[in-house]
Amino acid sequence: MAQMEANTGRRPRVVVTRRIFEDLAQELRGRFDVIDNQDDEDWSTQQLRERLADADALLTDPGRRVDASLLEGCARLCVVSNIAVGFNNIDLEACTRARIVATNTPDVLNDATADHAWALMLAAARRVAESDRWTRAGNWRRFALDSFLGIDVFGATLGVLGMGRIGRAIARRAQGFCMPVLYHNRNPLAGQDAEWAPAQAPRWVERERLLHEADFLIVVVPYTTATHHLIGAKELAQMKPGSVLVNIARGGIVDDAALAQALRLGRPAAAGLDVMENEPHIFPGLLALDNVVLTPHIASATGSARRAMVRRAIENLTQVLRNERPDAILNGEVWERRRLGTGAQ
Ligand code: GLV
Repeated sequence: MAQMEANTGRRPRVVVTRRIFEDLAQELRGRFDVIDNQDDEDWSTQQLRERLADADALLTDPGRRVDASLLEGCARLCVVSNIAVGFNNIDLEACTRARIVATNTPDVLNDATADHAWALMLAAARRVAESDRWTRAGNWRRFALDSFLGIDVFGATLGVLGMGRIGRAIARRAQGFCMPVLYHNRNPLAGQDAEWAPAQAPRWVERERLLHEADFLIVVVPYTTATHHLIGAKELAQMKPGSVLVNIARGGIVDDAALAQALRLGRPAAAGLDVMENEPHIFPGLLALDNVVLTPHIASATGSARRAMVRRAIENLTQVLRNERPDAILNGEVWERRRLGTGAQ
């Protein structure tokens, strides 16, 4: 920023799409000229475009689409800093064409997100949300041996679809539950053995085998055109009878209409979803079902993880404005062109 101030004689301007923690907002205001959104209003695209007209940086959230039409006319913008590890809301090619650096917030949310995957697994298996609703409704009259029978977790087989940093954090927790772990990735992991007790190292299997054999299937892949409806009617029908599906990655990877239909038929037996297609609008068929636990995209929402994400996102944009390469850069080629001072597109 000192660099940019020296070059332009003005403080860099940063636009923030959502309310952030007040102390971090103050830190940001101390460094930059900030247009923030501490009232957490839903700015229209046009309102955001107007705010961005003279901005150098955008600090944005995963609910905001950043594409060519938004970036049009943002002549000064040089960094889009996403407060999330997932970045399917950002059109990376459009950023690269406009020579705008895009960044995300990996790592700092791994454990919080893995914990939530387990919360959804356990809640779906043991019918926690459903029995809570029933209890509050005043239905509890007596102890019953056959009420709210659930699914065993301890010793069951955990399946992880997408064994990245968060997938591994989910799998590590399985050791405490004596659960064998199967996973599917494009490529098997290399050199991760030190992380696992010898008998509990996750085993790579084909996707179809994962669907057939997992008692709990957790979806952790990034959302791209290739993973749209990766879990649809066909895959759901291949899941093991009595199994549980959990999606903490992104809506759209699971076909929600197909899932609602499959849950009605009891295969899978239950599901836990933190993310949904078209969120925050929920597919009505899911709302009608008791065997699905729904949470509002909060897998990373512990105070410390969310603060760390905001802090990391602020550091990312600060680095770019200081002319330093951010570690969490998503389109490194923009940096290369900047460094080489080429206008090549
Ligand atoms: C949250 O959804 C994230 O991608 O960080």
